[in-house]
Amino acid sequence: MQSDIEDGREHLNISNWRHQRHNHGDESSAQVRSGHMPPLIYTAVHPEARLSKKEKKEFIKGLINTFGEENSNL
Ligand code: HEM
Repeated sequence: MQSDIEDGREHLNISNWRHQRHNHGDESSAQVRSGHMPPLIYTAVHPEARLSKKEKKEFIKGLINTFGEENSNL
């Protein structure tokens, strides 16, 4: 669990938000849209973590509103 958290923080640490120029937050929505997150192995063990179609849509919308979307400003 701790190593999963540290692994995730290497990619995206919201506590360092203002200090990091490139913080990968804009990749968050794609992680959910592509089905990479939540991980299948995790939802198999924790079915309550599965997202309905509507929840997934709302989650993606919230991530984009919060972190922006990759390549949206190219
Ligand atoms: C419902 C939402 C989510 C759940 C339940 C979830 C759960 C998890 C779990 C259990 C792991 C460990 C996986 C492993 O070690 O095999 C993980 C890893 C990770 N998650 Fe998520 N996650 C969610 C959403 C997100 C989102 C929105 C991001 C945005 C970037 C994200 C980024 C990561 C990263 C970077 C890792 C570590 C690298 C990796 O194992 O691929 N997660 N997540």
